Amino acid sequence: MKFRGSLRPSRWTTSYGLLNGLAARELGVAVWQTGNRSLKSPLLSKVHVRGAKRTTTIKASSLPQGVLPPLPPTETIQPEKTYPTVLQQHLNNVRKFSDCVVLTRVGDFYEMYFDQVEQYAPLVGLKTAKRATTLGDVSMAGFQHTQLDRYLKMFVRDLGKQVAISEQIRLPESERNSRGGGPMFDRKVTRIVTAGTLIDESFVDPFESNFLLAVHVDPKELTHLTDTGSIANRGAMRFGLAWVDVSSGDFYTQSCDASTLASAVSRIGPKEVVVRKGADQQHEDALQRLIGEGTYSTEFFDGDQSMKAFADWNEVLERQVTTEELTAFSEQEKQAGNLVLSFIGEKLIDTNVRLQAPVRRSAEETMVIDRQSLRNLEIRATLRDGLTRGSLLQIFRRTVTNSGARLLSQRLVSPSLSLDVINRRLDLVQEFHEHDVLRERVIAYLQRTADTTRVLQRFSIAKGDADDMLSLARTINMVQQIADSLQTHLVQEYDVGSSTQDTDVEGSVKTRISVLSLADILARLMLAGPAKLAKSITSTIDEEGLSKQHAAEDEQAVASEQMIADVVAADAAGKTLPKLARRASKQASHSAAQSSDDQDIWIMRRSASPALGQAHTKLDGLVTAKHKLANKLRAATKAESLTLKWSAQLGHFIHIKGRDVTGRVAALDGAHSIGSSKSTRSFHLTEWSQLGVQIDDAKRRIRTEESHVFTRLRAHILENLMHLRRNAAVLDELDVACSSATIARERNLIRPILDASTSHHIIGGRHPTVDIGLRSQGRQFTSNDCLVGQPSQSIYLITGPNMGGKSTYLRQNALITILAQTGSYVPADYAKIGLVDNIFSRVGSADNLYQGQSTFMVEMLETAAILKQATPRSFVIMDEVGRGTTPEDGLAVGYACLHHLQNVNKCRALFATHFHGLVNMTRGFEGLACFCTDVQEDGEGGWSYVHKMQRGVNRQSHALRVARLAGLPEGAIEVAGQVLDGLGYGEKRGHDAGARVAVNAAAG
Ligand SMILES: Nc1ncnc2c1ncn2[C@@H]1O[C@H](COP(=O)(O)OP(=O)(O)O)[C@@H](O)[C@H]1O
Ligand SMILES: [Mg+2]
Repeated sequence: MKFRGSLRPSRWTTSYGLLNGLAARELGVAVWQTGNRSLKSPLLSKVHVRGAKRTTTIKASSLPQGVLPPLPPTETIQPEKTYPTVLQQHLNNVRKFSDCVVLTRVGDFYEMYFDQVEQYAPLVGLKTAKRATTLGDVSMAGFQHTQLDRYLKMFVRDLGKQVAISEQIRLPESERNSRGGGPMFDRKVTRIVTAGTLIDESFVDPFESNFLLAVHVDPKELTHLTDTGSIANRGAMRFGLAWVDVSSGDFYTQSCDASTLASAVSRIGPKEVVVRKGADQQHEDALQRLIGEGTYSTEFFDGDQSMKAFADWNEVLERQVTTEELTAFSEQEKQAGNLVLSFIGEKLIDTNVRLQAPVRRSAEETMVIDRQSLRNLEIRATLRDGLTRGSLLQIFRRTVTNSGARLLSQRLVSPSLSLDVINRRLDLVQEFHEHDVLRERVIAYLQRTADTTRVLQRFSIAKGDADDMLSLARTINMVQQIADSLQTHLVQEYDVGSSTQDTDVEGSVKTRISVLSLADILARLMLAGPAKLAKSITSTIDEEGLSKQHAAEDEQAVASEQMIADVVAADAAGKTLPKLARRASKQASHSAAQSSDDQDIWIMRRSASPALGQAHTKLDGLVTAKHKLANKLRAATKAESLTLKWSAQLGHFIHIKGRDVTGRVAALDGAHSIGSSKSTRSFHLTEWSQLGVQIDDAKRRIRTEESHVFTRLRAHILENLMHLRRNAAVLDELDVACSSATIARERNLIRPILDASTSHHIIGGRHPTVDIGLRSQGRQFTSNDCLVGQPSQSIYLITGPNMGGKSTYLRQNALITILAQTGSYVPADYAKIGLVDNIFSRVGSADNLYQGQSTFMVEMLETAAILKQATPRSFVIMDEVGRGTTPEDGLAVGYACLHHLQNVNKCRALFATHFHGLVNMTRGFEGLACFCTDVQEDGEGGWSYVHKMQRGVNRQSHALRVARLAGLPEGAIEVAGQVLDGLGYGEKRGHDAGARVAVNAAAG
């Protein structure tokens, strides 16, 4: 096909036009033309606008793909005219995948056409151009294929879109001929990229899991959500959750009810939620509200239901799930599992991922941290900006591997409820805490491991490369090293244990127990199979060859970047592009000519297979023959500069340059000149042509054999999939344990004692993050005790001045509890904690106005959830409940809460308030104790906070001091002081030690 008009498209200003022009020419598909007619496609189906998060998906496989007959004519299109094949294929895909941005591969580029160009190109910063067709100009935009991840990130992550990627598949020779000049490529959507189905895209967050979550509820039960008369029925609704991280193969399920759904979802922290498409919008909205808002998009999935049976799961699992295991899953969980797997199947189309067998999470195994608490306690992100910085996770993260960081993040939001699990984790931490050398050694090995679970997923989708293999091999070797270190340590420790048995019985027993946790870890490592694999990887892949290849690739990348820069510069200077195009094609043929030198880079060792060895020997012989031939010809022609070459245009030819051109070329038998200049001469010679073809054949054989070897090696890796994943899981646990031990050393943390009681006994507790924050400013954190839940003080009623540290105290005790049940050391001098099943918090006054809820409404919603759900094993913190309304209302609501907590919930609770009237009102409460913080005067007009919790009541909020500190104008402060005096609340009243005693007596 010929270029018509200028090569340069009318509105195309970047290198894209040129390069793509080349690509297109190669393909023989694109026709560039300067045109001024413009026609919008009438065929495009409605495309969803930016930010529209509700989408419906239809079954991909049920739709025709690839090369299709032209669309049936419509009124606006002349029947005899059609779009060029690429555009037609693209258009078909846009109609089929109507909720997706469609990117079609053309040569080295991914392209968009028609309406989506106008809609999306500006949003992702792509330049647009026009492509001329017989049906008028068509908008187009595109980018180089190497930039795919960059644009996927913008479409999927930033714009919340799904992207259908249509790849070009070279048609077999036979088919092409039969089509008689038809297209060389078929195009097929091979994958739909969505936020929850990322596999190895470069923008997958290495520190966070990339979960896709399916929520299932029986459609019949959905009516409870909209039918206000049946609110009571909602309690009986059962939801099934199933979530998968395609990038690592993790697969979990869980059941929950309507009241815990939102919290469960936010703990999982999915990137995308999928729900079966409901009968109507109303139900979908109601369900969406129940699931709650988040940073994920929700898909209402209407697709393939073929993954109907639970038994079908085995097809995608790395190991079969037994019928016995099946019985553990609830019906809702199975349905959710079906849904999540169907969705994945639908999106990944041609990509087979292998998932781990599903792990069932039950509510009984983990502490529930509800949605608000997760936010309020700033566990994974801070309230201020929602970023990780400053969160508990960030401050406590000393993990050295990505997957270890992911495990830590998961553990922090779902602490354990099993004494056994917690103690085993703590044992491990203790072992690393007490043995610096062991810890440092293990950390050093861990640092050299690869993110195995994600690397393995690449192999399971047939994507991993030689580098991935080497990184696996290196990881396997590190696992061996770690195992050796643990083994050595165990032997040593055992000896230490027995020799000190007589002198320090308790110490030795302790050591022995934590040694057991190490022995357990060691026993779980699978060494034999992976060791064999590592060996076959390192004996197959030639690391030197590989690094040569990387160097060559880097060089090429630099060259093409340079070319693009040149093109852009030329374009800016108004030079024409064809000239550069010639240069580009010259450059291309130059590198092709080079590759026929004998410097081919092979990434497999010759010894990798007998066939490979033979092929190399064959090539060696031929290369020697080539050198001999060259020498013979040089002698015959007396031309030292004679070289044997190859190029795409000329094939195998002989080249002479410089003074030598006057030599006796003509004397060569069968030489056939193909070009000459003053200083060069080129000619064909049968002898070289024949030998050259043989060399090419030999090289091709090597390439083919290398790819066979590679395929076998990949199969070998997949055979070891389970063992490798299991080892990876052990490494993650070690990483998290070492992380906890490291931070424990740095911050003087102690091992908490967990038991089955319902009380706290924390001495010298500190806020995990505030403590660190203050210290970094050179300030001291005042540690505080917490004995809530002990007889006579199941509720702490806390008063004190503004900024006195009430909120900090509340949160620190919740955080210490969470850390302890995560299996981590905690910031305190001593901590004995009765297991907590639920942590609830009502703090802050975050408005949720965009959802139409006032401060007080939000406050009451959260309070309601606490009072309804807290059990005697729960831990509740309530900060200034009743603040969003009048003081009288606030007092009444506060009292009601305390009353309910004391008499109904009977849980541990820390309740901070400015309503000191509550102290008098609750005098008769048996399990309530009063504590306060204070302000200390220095006698010279200065004052400071006393952050130490003391028994008693502080009836002063010292608000005016804070106001002055904040810079409120002095006049305003004076007026405020007068008002307080007038109300009988003047500063002079001081705080009432008598009242403190009285209250204590009452409480005691
Ligand atoms: N135990 C403590 N030791 C040292 N400084 C503290 C302590 N508790 C709180 N603070 C400091 O006081 C500030 C205000 O504490 P906060 O808990 O918000 O007070 P309140 O809730 O009583 O108004 C914190 O940001 C912190 O800097
Ligand atoms: Mg406060």
